[in-house]
Formats: sequence, structure tokens, C-alpha cells
Amino acid sequence: MAGHFRSQPPTAAQAYPDRPQFSGFMKPCRFEGELQNLEVTTGKIPLEIDGTFYRVMPDPQLPPFIEDDVWFNGDGNISAFRIRSGRCHFKQRYVRTEKFVRERQAQRALIGRYRNKYTDAVEFKIRSTANTNIVYFNGRLLACKEDSPPYAVNAETLETIGLEDFDGQLPSLTFTAHPKLDPVTKEFICFGYEAKGDGTPDIYYFSIGPDGKFLESVWLVAPVVAMIHDFAVTENWIIFPIIPLTADVERMKNGGEHWQWTPDIPFYIGVLPRHGAKGEDVKWFRAPNAFAGHTANAFEKPDGSIVFELPVSQDNVFFWWPDKDGKAPIPQDIRNELSRFTFDPRSTDLDLSPPELLLAEDVEFPRIDDRYLAAPHSQVFLLTMDPKLGTDFAAMAPVMGGGSPPYNALGNYDHRTKTFRRYFPGTMHLFLEPVFIPRSQDAAEGDGWVLGLVNNYSNMLSELHIVDTTDFEKPCAIVSLPVRLRPGLHGNWVDAQDLALAD
Ligand SMILES: [Fe+2]
Repeated sequence: MAGHFRSQPPTAAQAYPDRPQFSGFMKPCRFEGELQNLEVTTGKIPLEIDGTFYRVMPDPQLPPFIEDDVWFNGDGNISAFRIRSGRCHFKQRYVRTEKFVRERQAQRALIGRYRNKYTDAVEFKIRSTANTNIVYFNGRLLACKEDSPPYAVNAETLETIGLEDFDGQLPSLTFTAHPKLDPVTKEFICFGYEAKGDGTPDIYYFSIGPDGKFLESVWLVAPVVAMIHDFAVTENWIIFPIIPLTADVERMKNGGEHWQWTPDIPFYIGVLPRHGAKGEDVKWFRAPNAFAGHTANAFEKPDGSIVFELPVSQDNVFFWWPDKDGKAPIPQDIRNELSRFTFDPRSTDLDLSPPELLLAEDVEFPRIDDRYLAAPHSQVFLLTMDPKLGTDFAAMAPVMGGGSPPYNALGNYDHRTKTFRRYFPGTMHLFLEPVFIPRSQDAAEGDGWVLGLVNNYSNMLSELHIVDTTDFEKPCAIVSLPVRLRPGLHGNWVDAQDLALAD
């Protein structure tokens, strides 16, 4: 039963805890509103760019009563940057989740520890914070958090429409924050894990056609109850990488964390036929223990083998959830390196070798040209961290806050030439997840612009940097905001043509 800890009523604190994850640039933003004509302080926004960049940040509207709350347990606050005619207009609005509405009514935090309902002050039907990703499908934005179904949001006004159950077709209690849209079939490919509730090993895989009807619907079982944050899709296969962070309901009932790093289990990679599968068709391949949070892409080679590309770390990237002995890496020592597994999905030998290292750089948040999802790609855009680039960490340290991992440049890896280009935004700047915008519908792969939010620690404000991929090392335009946006997780570009089609 939920409510184990309700005998300790939450305090109605009016200031955020004096901890790194709520300090400096990590202090909640909490702004809602609209700003027309953001300043373009460097360069010019290309006139060809016409669409909206949506992103979401965890932004607790009220101080938590769990003082050591993780930085991404806050309410989802969506930012929309509408770019057209060389101008950029900004809008921001919180998702009205059940949590948000009830806490606003109560004027205090009611939710407890991250993904631990036993620590809540009240019983929620839906605990979603809707704070991880914002994706566009069938005319609506979906604000996603992987422990719940998504919330539907109006793409123009950012007003919350309500919890999305796809006309009653969704049987899963959960929905990934990283669904994929197949650029060829236009299928929306999704899954949920812990899909029958906390501590259940059940995964629900499904796809939705452009008409909103479910096409595939498969229940399967994971070998461990652990985090499956992202996944990958090829023409014929679905790939589920399991991060070795395991869940334990008893630990949660005792007020502990949902997740614990588990270094003595493999890094499982599940492979399921994409079409017409049954749950028992899944194969769980085993790679050496590793942390792999986000996928770049996957595709099939002519011989039928799968190429699965993603940054991989030997360490527990989520260091704030240590192992059973309390051991965790030093954050500065954690490295993610772009890697590729290549394996035969039909093999009966389920043990995989360590992946091939593609690039000896510390990288995360890989993005491809989305037109190449599930197909062989040559371009990857990602964030990179290299202290040698000259970031003035000593000057930034007092105002940095903590939690969100620091990346000081935007990178572009070209598989054909095996070259790596960087755009370094400045010595007092850190980059957040990029998105790629094709120059036109039929532009070559990777020809266009890369856009991302940048934290400027010299004035404690946010900026939007746009880079032309034909001249990657310098900004094409910098849009300066008069507000500081809290670092977030994910966002997506929606072309005006696609937005218009939905009306
Ligand atoms: Fe993510």
C-alpha cells in the first residue's frame, strides 16, 4: 500500500534545499509566459528555418520535502521556440499533471522520492512529472516520463489536453520517454517497462499507425527488473538495452531508492522481431556490464546482422544511485564513448563481446538526421566534454550547481570520413541536447542546421545556438533569452509543414 511514510507530513518549505541540484544554474526557473522576438545577438537566423523547437525541463514548481531529491524529479515545464522569417518567438508552460495540479492546490510538495510512491504524502493515480521528453505525433505533443502514460499537450498553446491513452488502446501503465517515428512507414514505435507496475519485469511493445490505431502489441518479460530508458529500431527488429540499475519494491517500501547500481549482472540487450512477434520470441543477448543511457541508431547490414550504435560507459553514469555497498564513481571520472555492437539477431550464442569503440571522446545525447532512423546513417550529432577546449570551470564553479552532467561543446562525427568536428560555444558556456534540422526535405543526410540550448554562466542566462553543418565550427546565429532556463533532458524539432498538416 502506498502511504507507508505518510505519518511524516511534508513541510511547506518556501525555499529550495541548499544543495547543488537546486543551486546556481540548477535553481528552478518556474517561469511561464510568452516572449515575442527574442534578441538575435550574433549572426542571423536563416530564413529557410520554419518550425518549432520544443524541449522540456524538470522544474519543481514547489520545494521538495525530500531534500536530496534527484535533479530530474521536478515538474515538466515545456519551452517552445517558434522560428520563422528569421525571427524567434518563445513560449513556456508547465504540463498540468495530476501532481502539478494537486500540489498547486495544496501549496506544497506532495510527491516523495523519485519513482517511490511509498514516500508520497497523498496517493496519486498518476505520478508522472511529464518532464523527460516532448515528442510530436498525430497533431499533439506528448510530454513523456517513463513511469506513466504521456500527457497530451496542444502544440500551439502548450495547454495540457490530458493523460493520453490512445483512445483506450494503451494497456501498459508506463510509456517510454524515447518513442521513435519511422520516417518511411510513419509508424510511432513505443514501449513501456515495469509495465504492470513497480517491480514487474513486464515490457509492453507496441506501434501506432498514422491513423492512431495500434498495429503491433506484444507483452514480453525482461530477465531483470531494471531501467530501460531508451531503445532502438531497425527495419525488422526492436532492440531493448537494459541499464544495470535494478529495482526493488521492498527497498522502496522502506523509503529507499527505486534504483540501485548492480555491477554483477550483464548489460542485457533484448532483440524482438518488429512485426508479428509473440513475447516468447524475444532473445536476451548479454554484453559485459556497462551503462548505456541513450541510443544513436540501429540498422541492418545486407547479411542480416544488426548494427547498434550508442554511447557506452564502464561506470554508473547515475552516480547518485550507488551499488548495494554505497559505491559510486566520482562524477568527473565518468566517460561515455560512442560505440557499436554488431551481432546476428538469429544467433544462438547470446554472449556478446564488448562493443567496437568509434570515437575516443566523452560524449552523450547522440542525435542523427531523423530521416535515417532504422537505416544506415553516417552523421551523428552529440554533446562532448573536453576540458582542454578552455572552459573556465574555476569561474563557473560557484554558480554551476550540480546534477546535470556538463558538456562543453557540440560534436559531429562522420562515419564515412571518421572525422570529428566541434563547435565550442565559449569559455563560460555549456551545451544541452542538440536537434538537427534538414536544410530541405530532400537535402543530403546531415545537411542543415544543428540547434541547441546553451547555458551562459557569465550572465546566468540561456541562449539558443544555431550552427550550419557546412560551417560547423562557428555559430550561424545566437538567440539570447532574458531568462535562465533550467537544464533539461530532451526536445525535438517540428517542421512547420508537419505542424500545419495537423491543423
Ligand atoms: Fe533520455
